[in-house]
Amino acid sequence: MNLSTNIAVVGSGYVGLVTAACLAELGHSVVCVDVDEEKINALQRGQIPIYEEWLPELLQRHGGRRLCFTTSLDSALRESSVVFIAVGTPSAESGEADLSYVEKVARDLACSAYGYRLIVEKSTVPVYTCEWIRRTMAMSSPEAKFDVVSNPEFLREGTAVLDFLLPDRIVVGADSDRAARVMQDIYKPLTSGAYYQTRDAIVSGAAKGAQLILTSTKSAEIIKHASNAFLATKISFINAVASICEKVGADVTEVAMGMGSDSRIGSRFLMSGIGYGGSCFPKDLKAFRSFAHDLGYEFKLLDEVMKINEDQRQSFLKKIRSAVWNLRGKRLGVLGVTFKGGTDDIRESPAIAIIEALIRERCTLSVYDPGGAERAKEVLPASVTFVDDPYRASSGADALLILTDWAEFCNLDLNRVSEELAQPIVIDGRNLFDPQKMAQAGLLYYSVGRSNPTKLEPSERPGLRSQASVQCDIPEYDATSRKC
Ligand code: UDX
Repeated sequence: MNLSTNIAVVGSGYVGLVTAACLAELGHSVVCVDVDEEKINALQRGQIPIYEEWLPELLQRHGGRRLCFTTSLDSALRESSVVFIAVGTPSAESGEADLSYVEKVARDLACSAYGYRLIVEKSTVPVYTCEWIRRTMAMSSPEAKFDVVSNPEFLREGTAVLDFLLPDRIVVGADSDRAARVMQDIYKPLTSGAYYQTRDAIVSGAAKGAQLILTSTKSAEIIKHASNAFLATKISFINAVASICEKVGADVTEVAMGMGSDSRIGSRFLMSGIGYGGSCFPKDLKAFRSFAHDLGYEFKLLDEVMKINEDQRQSFLKKIRSAVWNLRGKRLGVLGVTFKGGTDDIRESPAIAIIEALIRERCTLSVYDPGGAERAKEVLPASVTFVDDPYRASSGADALLILTDWAEFCNLDLNRVSEELAQPIVIDGRNLFDPQKMAQAGLLYYSVGRSNPTKLEPSERPGLRSQASVQCDIPEYDATSRKC
């Protein structure tokens, strides 16, 4: 593979840690910097603070060799010719991105007079941030020699390592040939396809190299915000269509399939449910909306995307009421607290928002989540019972709610669920199951964008049936769909 580059990655959160580990996997020498001493010490011991598939393998392979961890930015800069800024850009009160951590790093970088440095903006930032970094560094240290490029990430939590190593595209915004060449060299193992031919590649057999799109810094910064805003728009669009489907008795999953079969639309990100969450979409839409406003453009479409997303939670609460009547005092089983399956992250999770609303309605909740329970316990009151399997969550409950699309929920033994429930009611916020199969299992099944079930009379509630574990429709992250 190509010549190794000495790289510093500033920030060891979801983006920084995955970026550092994957750059080491490509053959570079990487030092990951964070001010959080506890986190750095844990990483030096090989302990990983986040739940990401393949990250343990990468730290096992490269930790202490091509991948080191430190709290000293200065020592990292002394060794590195390229510096990735991957620090947090949280939402400020007004919705705009808080770039104070980015600015702090830029000032620190300017003071480290170690010769030419390439500064790579990896964090999700509004357009012009490269300009601000350039200006801040030039003003802090007029003699500093550097370039600043934008290299936005398109990593999804739970599949971030695969998204890095097998990207749909790599975007580089560079305003100098020298900077562009350095970035092309860094990603050469992927663009040449050489990485995919290496013996122990995490992703092997790619027929061709990854696409690298070289553009200006401003265009690269907008590509990131516009991509996330468009994906969230797709989700809110199908959720709006789901509301219409529900009113006429159509099935939104079939509508989504019919739409998505058009190659101009595409089938992904058309799964209707309780809406999007996570640390990116909500924050990035607010930042994009706020920045457009500052430029004098009122991006009203994004207002509607955010409103539809909020409305999904409210309409799901109404759905629960329509199934169990009064909420007060009801015992509800809950499957899922994370903002999506395959991660332990509960930030901006619609599941948490719905759980908090049910707590306010004085419901008694028994909650199961395979990955996010520990984080949820930190934010939910002690009155919420956490259990370690979905059947205990169902035991004696007036209804079972499905709020997160964990793949394991697809293999539920529905007969056992029906036995455990005090009332045979399942209310699915992620459309994991086929309504007909749920009815066969004797369950009153409510979902999103599909007609509500006909009322089951007690006599109609079948007794024990043959095993009715239902294969559901969740399109789990299918690496094969992107494996070459
Ligand atoms: C997203 C972008 O996909 C990624 O490119 C960017 O770098 C970071 O933000 P992430 O937030 O990790 O990634 O999760 P993603 O898989 O995009 O899901 C975001 C939210 O949308 C989740 O709450 C998910 O449940 C929801 N979603 C996703 C839907 O409701 N319907 C869908 O069809 C897809």
